[in-house]
Amino acid sequence: MLNIREISELEKIRTPFYHYDMDLLDATLVSLTESAARHGIEVHYAVKANADERILKAISAKGIGADCVSGNEVLCAIRCGFPPEKTVFAGAGKTDEEIIHALEADIFAFNCESLQELKVLDALAGRLGVRAKVSLRINPNIDAHTHKYVTTGLYENKFGISAHDFDSAIILLRDCGNIDFNGLHFHVGSQITDVKEVFSLECRRASEVVEYFESAGFAVQNIDLGGGLGVDYENPDDAILPDFGLWFDTIDRHLKRRSGQRIHVEPGRSVVAQCGTLFTKVLYVKGGDTKTFLIVDAGMNDLIRPALYGAYHSIENVSASHRGASGEQVYDIVGPVCESSDVWGAGRVLPASVRGDLIAIRTAGAYGQVMSMRYNLRDCAGTVYSDRIGDAVTAVPPVAVSE
Ligand code: LLP
Repeated sequence: MLNIREISELEKIRTPFYHYDMDLLDATLVSLTESAARHGIEVHYAVKANADERILKAISAKGIGADCVSGNEVLCAIRCGFPPEKTVFAGAGKTDEEIIHALEADIFAFNCESLQELKVLDALAGRLGVRAKVSLRINPNIDAHTHKYVTTGLYENKFGISAHDFDSAIILLRDCGNIDFNGLHFHVGSQITDVKEVFSLECRRASEVVEYFESAGFAVQNIDLGGGLGVDYENPDDAILPDFGLWFDTIDRHLKRRSGQRIHVEPGRSVVAQCGTLFTKVLYVKGGDTKTFLIVDAGMNDLIRPALYGAYHSIENVSASHRGASGEQVYDIVGPVCESSDVWGAGRVLPASVRGDLIAIRTAGAYGQVMSMRYNLRDCAGTVYSDRIGDAVTAVPPVAVSE
């Protein structure tokens, strides 16, 4: 909850902007690293969730590793302090150039997603005269009970190597002269809220696959269980810190762990979602025939989740209490982009709102700014850190007109 002083400071800043609560990020990281240490689990932050350099530096400073899905993410992670020996690289479509850069950086592991990629990794490592450390990303055919677009562990998805290819992978691994087999990798989806059910299934399936590879003579030294822990978009203040303990307890209970075997996870969303808020201002209050629109100055180009996935984000009018507004109203809160899907929330109840009010779109720290674009040639939203509010660009106050 923001106090009056913070609200007046934020109201002076040019909108739209992403605001990152650096104290909350730190508290989340402390909770994550302490919980992981208690369970003997190694963490690699999924850079794709938020690649802001200050955020990456805050995360790497805690000794956490990086999970990357492009050559540029690998380079950016290393530049921001993640050690190559704690960096993993997944992705179904790694280019030769990306593989070469990551081989040169000597990363911890490539999470290899297909038989053909295995051959390419072997050939490129041979050409450079280096060893490629490779984990196989397994497609465990598990339903993560989440949105279709963020489900990754079913056979209908493009990710990972399926059971019918295990024997061919084993033969190929024996033939590849330039590959060191590092272990197995799994990731079944994102925004998983059935934590016990989905992750216990993932762990039991992982244990079976580990046994299969061990029986073929491969020591599985590393098991990477991917990311996916969900956050509370409906009530961000109630569950401001994710339940990392529940996730790791579930792993402890359901994964058969050999002594000396290293267990890894790759959380993205749960690390950064709640520390980010997209702030926007009301441009127009427009009464329609059947509804009232609040037209704000942030659009789907700034945060595409509602338009792309129909995702829910909690929306608050932070100026209303400050102004002493009375009464509530139902609004369709929409952006300025020329697309009818540019809707932040339909039928939302907010305090009676006026032009110039500051609106907070919550839980925007993950897959927000990093997925933004410049459609309609709009300017990119600014970035404001809670510990550097003074650096923010000041707004030109909106011209006053009658309601
Ligand atoms: N590891 C791998 C291999 C992944 O593909 C992902 C996410 C993660 C880890 C991190 O998962 P997380 O802990 O963040 O759930 N843009 C979508 C989410 C896409 C997730 C892609 N992969 C959204 O806004 O909901």
